[in-house]
Amino acid sequence: MSTRREDRDAWDAIASFWHDRMGEGNDFVDLLIWPIVRRLLPPLEGLRVIDIGCGNGLFSRKLAAEGARVYAFDYSTNMIDHARAATREHAIEYDVLDAVDPDDLAQLPTDRFDAALCTMVLMDMRNVEPLMSVLPRILARGASFVFATAHPCFNSPHARLENFGRDGEGSPTSVRVEAYRTPSRSRDMAMTGQPVRTLFFHRSISDLLRPAFAAGFVLDALEEPSFSPDHRGGRASSWGGRFHEFPPVLAGRFRKRKQE
Ligand SMILES: C[S@@+](CC[C@H](N)C(=O)[O-])C[C@H]1O[C@@H](n2cnc3c(N)ncnc32)[C@H](O)[C@@H]1O
Repeated sequence: MSTRREDRDAWDAIASFWHDRMGEGNDFVDLLIWPIVRRLLPPLEGLRVIDIGCGNGLFSRKLAAEGARVYAFDYSTNMIDHARAATREHAIEYDVLDAVDPDDLAQLPTDRFDAALCTMVLMDMRNVEPLMSVLPRILARGASFVFATAHPCFNSPHARLENFGRDGEGSPTSVRVEAYRTPSRSRDMAMTGQPVRTLFFHRSISDLLRPAFAAGFVLDALEEPSFSPDHRGGRASSWGGRFHEFPPVLAGRFRKRKQE
């Protein structure tokens, strides 16, 4: 259906649209993702952090603002161009690498990072095994790997938000899930209105976590943030407080097992 190169070309094609719309954040980033990943990460002052699939670098800049020294990479050259242009901080180094390519990952230095962050990228990757298996090598002892991804149950191409009211206010909502267990790939909108569809690789929660367990990680935190009931963002059938029962994001923290 697509090649790795086509996966990346789609992100290159929407990089300017993404950066113009996203800038330094939106409700997903500000209300759901950053508060959770910030809490799961250790105090950042002086820490060396790797930001995997950094996009336009907005999380890298947040990390640097809290005192971290950040190495950030993305496989889209155009995203990295936007990230560099939007960054004043000297504490951030950007690179172009593909997180599913073992040769690219082999370039990463050993024992270098005190923490790793990967926000809203795992569902864009056709294969998470190479990344999971390289992380124990590049992370220092005791380091944590914090991730946030589209919730595989409620926020996937197989899940449809349904709102049974005409205006959406106070009316019953549900999420209709048409498939879950079977891994799939499809072209999807990471952001409403994007000019080219990007690839979405659906995995169940167990399929998502298994490669990290196989690589020697232990999961010690799991979070499912959702919008608060009084959040009024979005259209009647898009994410916001009307769907507060259903978390659109799954976030967690892995740690290297002690003996490694
Ligand atoms: C939804 S954006 C998230 C960007 C950023 N982490 C954030 O939360 O704002 C997904 C990003 O992952 C990048 N990406 C997807 N697959 C990748 C891969 N195999 N290697 C590196 N970057 C990848 C895309 O180019 C895109 O910039």
